[in-house]
Amino acid sequence: YGDVFKYYADGEWKKSSSGQSVAIINPTTRKPQYKVQACTKEEVNKAMERAKFAQKSWARTPLWKRGELLHKAAAILKEHKSPIGECLVKEIAKPAKDAFTEVVRSGDLVSYCAEEGVRILGDGKLLVSDSFPGNDRSKYCLTSKIPLGVVLAIPPYNYPVNLAVSKIAPALIAGNSLVLKPPTQGAVSCLHMVHCFHLAGFPKGLISCITGKGSQIGDFLTTHPDVDCISFTGGDTGIAIAKKAGMIPLQMELGGKDACIILEDADLNLVAENIIKGGFSYSGQRCTAVKVIFAMESIADALVEKVNARVAKLTVGPPEKNCDITPVVSEASANFIEGLIMDAKDKGAKFCQEHKREGNLIWPLLLDHVTPDMRIAREEPFGPVVPVIRIKSIEEGIHHCNSSKYGLQGCVFTKDINKAMLISDAMETGTVQINSAPARGPDHFPFQGFKDSGIGSQGITNSINMMTKTKSTVINLP
Ligand code: G3H
Repeated sequence: YGDVFKYYADGEWKKSSSGQSVAIINPTTRKPQYKVQACTKEEVNKAMERAKFAQKSWARTPLWKRGELLHKAAAILKEHKSPIGECLVKEIAKPAKDAFTEVVRSGDLVSYCAEEGVRILGDGKLLVSDSFPGNDRSKYCLTSKIPLGVVLAIPPYNYPVNLAVSKIAPALIAGNSLVLKPPTQGAVSCLHMVHCFHLAGFPKGLISCITGKGSQIGDFLTTHPDVDCISFTGGDTGIAIAKKAGMIPLQMELGGKDACIILEDADLNLVAENIIKGGFSYSGQRCTAVKVIFAMESIADALVEKVNARVAKLTVGPPEKNCDITPVVSEASANFIEGLIMDAKDKGAKFCQEHKREGNLIWPLLLDHVTPDMRIAREEPFGPVVPVIRIKSIEEGIHHCNSSKYGLQGCVFTKDINKAMLISDAMETGTVQINSAPARGPDHFPFQGFKDSGIGSQGITNSINMMTKTKSTVINLP
């Protein structure tokens, strides 16, 4: 992999005129694994210009044909599961089995999107004027959904393929063109995925994938006058993007501090399983990971014991060996996580396991008796560490949950559906899961964050709708 991967624009693979590249560091070896082109602002301009041009005829391409091409891309994507999955393993240290699952899930998402798009975009509306006071039946309003234009998609490192296609597929089925700016870690996986769309035969210029440093072309892209919509998933950068973006629709999924409230009557085995899955899968590097547990005092000891027994069984090591816990994405991230752990230690949290770190690999850790003054109680570690805060009442749990600046998802474990519904109503989060850990999928479910967790709602149907605008034609009878 000494060569620099080319970027994709105007239906071709190109070298950047900058002559510069960006290195992708393998989180496991901590050595450069791949290099991608560091694109220039001129190259961004060119891609935007081509995207604008290509979109015009794409919007006039019959909907069923757009769907057909997406189905083709989905099938090719699934056929390329192995090379793309292997890239994910090297670039973001995702355990091999999860990496392959990400690609298959992405293919399914693209297919579903094609079907959903054909259904919902083919469905227009007719309004007749006489339902509004003072009007006779002389005006007929036909409304349809038309594309926005050029959609800029910026996915994060933790799902570079899946969270890219969750933006690309709705944009394309709705008749938009697409400029993709992949994350640095995950850029090569994104380029492979874009190759699948290339093989499917989409028109030239309709899709481009611009690689480079966010510090050099990030602002230029997000404030570009030709961009008609931004779909971003990532951290606080999204807030800065939203402040600078013009009058265009934004879809932002940012951080989360997903809380898990556990009542006395909960099935503790089920809870423990979900804390392991929700808190430690992909080493906690999911926006929807369980990031804080609020356990009723009376069941906390028993729960902690059950979780600890399962933490002891987690395998720790390289992603190639399919370990449960793999190195976190970067040294900076590992340092940040360790900072949170040390702060909790200084402030008296109880360590249920020994804290251990080798390079970017951090062993899974459950912290008990965490108090709200500890950073880990409020901040998002994006790592394999889960804090437990003991609560005396449901109200206390809801109060802690709602005092977070985030509001992505939350979950509640209880056998009492009435209490679960009341808690769901009270929690200020985009989604509340009853008796399961937070999760975005299935991918056609609405997915949204409140407060600093984002704006707009995702999920296939919502994304397609969000990437369109309403157009009316009124027929006036004499
Ligand atoms: O990291 C953010 C993702 O949207 C979470 O997706 O719940 O499928 O892991 P997930």
